[in-house]
Amino acid sequence: MAEYDYDVLVIGAGPGGYVAAIRAAQIGLKTACAESRETLGGTCLNVGCIPSKAMLHASEYFEAAAGGAMAKLGIKVTPELDLDTMHGQRKDAVKQLTGGIEFLFRKNKVDWLKGRASFEDAHTVTVAGKSYTAKNVVIATGSSVTPLPGVEIDNAKGVVVDSTGALELASVPKKLVVIGGGVIGLELGSVWRRLGAEVTVVEFLDQLLPGMDGEVRKEAGRIFKKQGMELKLSTKVTGVSVKGKKATLTLEPAAGGESETLTADAVLVSIGRRPNTEGLGLDKIGLTLNPRGQIETGHDFATKVDGVWAIGDVIPGPMLAHKAEDEGIAVAENIAGLTGIVNHDVIPGVVYTMPEIAGVGLTEEAAKERGAIKVGKFPMLANSRAKTNHEPEGFVKVIADAESDRVLGVWCIASVAGTMIAEAALAMEFGATSEDIAYTCHAHPTHSEAIKEAAMAVTGKPIHI
Ligand code: FAD
Ligand code: NAI
Repeated sequence: MAEYDYDVLVIGAGPGGYVAAIRAAQIGLKTACAESRETLGGTCLNVGCIPSKAMLHASEYFEAAAGGAMAKLGIKVTPELDLDTMHGQRKDAVKQLTGGIEFLFRKNKVDWLKGRASFEDAHTVTVAGKSYTAKNVVIATGSSVTPLPGVEIDNAKGVVVDSTGALELASVPKKLVVIGGGVIGLELGSVWRRLGAEVTVVEFLDQLLPGMDGEVRKEAGRIFKKQGMELKLSTKVTGVSVKGKKATLTLEPAAGGESETLTADAVLVSIGRRPNTEGLGLDKIGLTLNPRGQIETGHDFATKVDGVWAIGDVIPGPMLAHKAEDEGIAVAENIAGLTGIVNHDVIPGVVYTMPEIAGVGLTEEAAKERGAIKVGKFPMLANSRAKTNHEPEGFVKVIADAESDRVLGVWCIASVAGTMIAEAALAMEFGATSEDIAYTCHAHPTHSEAIKEAAMAVTGKPIHI
């Protein structure tokens, strides 16, 4: 009889966990995955990446029709919002994709253990009252919304909501206040602004989108303002009270000072996410958390407890689905004795607004701290495809080491920046110089030519400005 029930037991079926489970099974390891949600796919497929993109895509069409952009192309329509159908297509996308993971589990013979998992010891996990043993346990429990002290979220009521509630609002709020000008606030704020809400974003810091390149953050602020979002930067929310279907927020300058109030029909709390570790029984296996509540691992994703591994949002690094997925593949390979590596220096990040905002590698500020750099920039206004498509906003910026010319970071604001950034990530993964990109033939007319021209601007001159 086998010593353990499973070679690998993964806790959590988000992009980290389900990918780890499938890869482990593909390699030939006997694998189970515990998930307490009714459907597989984690935050990303159920209440994150996928439903938010479904609403962003649909609302973009609505705005193109309502805001006159389509009329400018010679297509005259007067749109009528059918929010139920819009929500319906969102739910369909989620259903199909989460069902797809269930199919992949069956295809790869991954057992889905339905229920909440917790450790009894490092090789024994209880799920729904039943114990399972495994030679290796992968913690992929993800993250959930960081609460704002004193502010109660009630997604069912639909007045003070988190990202999950903001995806499902039953009507367009007249006034929406977003607390936190990060990725969620700007994506979901954009959805409801496009559908007719007056949106105010309250951000504690002096710019939106912390962690991104300084120039990109500034330009993003200008673009969102131009689109009609009101931005209250360097401002903190000190309280939210709800009466019936209305909320009143008290705001104060971040540095302290006179307070003001704002009323809203809906308030989105999006001030970050925190790792899910509660109730896992980590104390039983002697695993402690770092000061940010995360599980620390080595480069191989092994924790300090033998046989216990961790990946995704629950460990340090950007809280992104593709980062979790790559770690899922790597951890399975490492468990099998192969070499699974994730290059954490080259993880692209994309904000799916219009225009999209994307970056990979170092910001200009961080690169400067590291040594001498050269920077090349190219405006989308001078890119023929963006110009033809009436998408003049944004730019591409390529940051390279002054001496070696190796690319250290690439930042884009462009309608299809999320697609464009893949090229930059590939170039950086291969250790490309800006000259390598500049001398690579790019198809014409594409938005990606702006990356080539920004690379040309690093050491010489682009052609089109
Ligand atoms: P999760 O996806 O959080 O999955 C963890 C799973 O573990 C959950 O299903 C949970 O139910 C389960 N679980 C937890 N504890 C237990 C337990 N004890 N027993 C059993 N099961 C358990 N990222 C992007 O890259 N692109 C995007 O466009 C994007 N959009 C987003 C939009 C929103 C609104 C949000 C909230 C997030 C978005 N993200 C996006 C982030 C992305 O969703 C996460 O980075 C990603 O889901 C992390 O994957 P994970 O596998 O680590 O964890
Ligand atoms: P975030 O970290 O991106 O942004 C939170 C913002 O809230 C920050 O700008 C922060 O300064 C601000 N803030 C914090 N406390 C505040 C307060 N009291 N008052 C006002 N502002 C305050 O977090 P967000 O937007 O909640 O998203 C969580 C994570 O989900 C992101 O870090 C990202 O990794 C992931 N995500 C990724 C997406 C993508 O890849 N397109 C889309 C959505 C989420």
